[in-house]
Amino acid sequence: MTQFELLKAKLAEIADIKGALALLSWDQEVMMPAGGIASRARQSGTLSGLQHDMYVNQAGPLLDKVEAEEYAQMDEWHQQNVREIKREMQRVRKLPTSHVMEVTQAASHSQQVWAKSRAANDFEMFKPHLKQLVDLRIREAEYYGYTTCPYDALLDMYEPGMTTLEVKSVFESVKPGLLDILGKIKECPERDETFIRKTLPVDEQLKWGVHIANSLGYSADHGRQDVSAHPFSIAMSPEDVRITTKVAPDDIREMLYSTIHEVGHALYELGLNTANYGLPAGEACSMAIHESQSRLWENQVGRSLEFWDKFLPSLASTFQPAFNGYVPFDFFRVVNKVKPSLVRISADELTYHFHIIMRFELESAMINGELKVEDLPAAWAEKTRQYLGLEVPSHAQGCLQDIHWSFGSFGYFPTYSLGSFYAAQFMAKALQDVPGLQEQLKQGNFRPLLLWLREKIHVHGRTMVASELCKKVTGETLNVEHFLTYARTKFSKVYQIEL
Ligand code: CO
Repeated sequence: MTQFELLKAKLAEIADIKGALALLSWDQEVMMPAGGIASRARQSGTLSGLQHDMYVNQAGPLLDKVEAEEYAQMDEWHQQNVREIKREMQRVRKLPTSHVMEVTQAASHSQQVWAKSRAANDFEMFKPHLKQLVDLRIREAEYYGYTTCPYDALLDMYEPGMTTLEVKSVFESVKPGLLDILGKIKECPERDETFIRKTLPVDEQLKWGVHIANSLGYSADHGRQDVSAHPFSIAMSPEDVRITTKVAPDDIREMLYSTIHEVGHALYELGLNTANYGLPAGEACSMAIHESQSRLWENQVGRSLEFWDKFLPSLASTFQPAFNGYVPFDFFRVVNKVKPSLVRISADELTYHFHIIMRFELESAMINGELKVEDLPAAWAEKTRQYLGLEVPSHAQGCLQDIHWSFGSFGYFPTYSLGSFYAAQFMAKALQDVPGLQEQLKQGNFRPLLLWLREKIHVHGRTMVASELCKKVTGETLNVEHFLTYARTKFSKVYQIEL
């Protein structure tokens, strides 16, 4: 066996532990009784510590041998994998095992408190936990090191190679075009959307959601769908990728679009090559690329007129007689309604980015020491006024609405918007590459699109950073003009105006 093969086998064992941790986390969100929290936090902490220890002390020396003895003779693909393992190893080697365990335990506990404090609309309850996590992540950034600001070090975990300044510059470049489109839409008369708000049986909704998920290429052989407070997808391995969804009894859009979104994430994980299990080539490229997949399926596919041409008959016949007498355009219009709102996950495709921009500004300020945790609610209210023109009526609809900070995830939010921008750029390229793609989507034939995504994006795993992948797939690095063009084309159709 070569040293590389030994390293790969070790990384596969580590991936097994990661998969077990994922299962514990899935269970905590979906099945676990509330009383199990303390022991679960301990179990997750132990496994995380073990994973970290194996990575540094067992995979680490193997990596050193590969570099010394084999790297120079390797082909490009193997070298790419080794470079990515090295990037990760250098980062992880800087973290003491005790810190990893401390973060995992704090995060697991804090997440539980967050759920309670959100339900009780009580920021004070959550505050000490948030403060602890912010402090732990600042300490972590110091372990990693950074050139410009501590937030760079955290961003790099989700979006390797991307800096705070680059994110800022992408957001600045999209703002004028986005504001221009929003300004024109604001002048349009608001149309009645109440027709879609029919109370429908929850079980039937879930069943219909599974039908949609299956139609897009997600199957029960390698996945399952459950209900949770905050929809997510999670991979135990590329052969077991689960999703959760959220149902609003009187609004089918909630279930439908959370399902399609999570299916998009799941299809990416399922598209990773099992032969590369444990290697960077068997893992997702970055969180923004992950999000590009969920957004592409949710927005470019699920919110298109073609989608409704195909699925309105099925919706209408499943929920007789709630949607009799409507045409696909009615649904196309109502699922693309643009209106500033307080809650990110139910925001429309355009104002959504202002939710992200404000979170990026707030979390980077907390991590960079420019905003105190106790001042968060006031700062949140101020940004909501500035970007969305709204007053925040409660913490639950304000700074307690998102799960991310509750488990210490700072640096993740920007990847949502970056994902949308990548999605538009990928879809534009797919439409050029795949003959008759639009017509196939209208027929409900999603296979050609999925195969294109597998061949162009999924297959590469994390053998390169997102900007390189984007260039390889589309011929250029991230360019927000693709998103703005997509938005103008779509919303001029939705609102029947010139954009
Ligand atoms: Co997502």
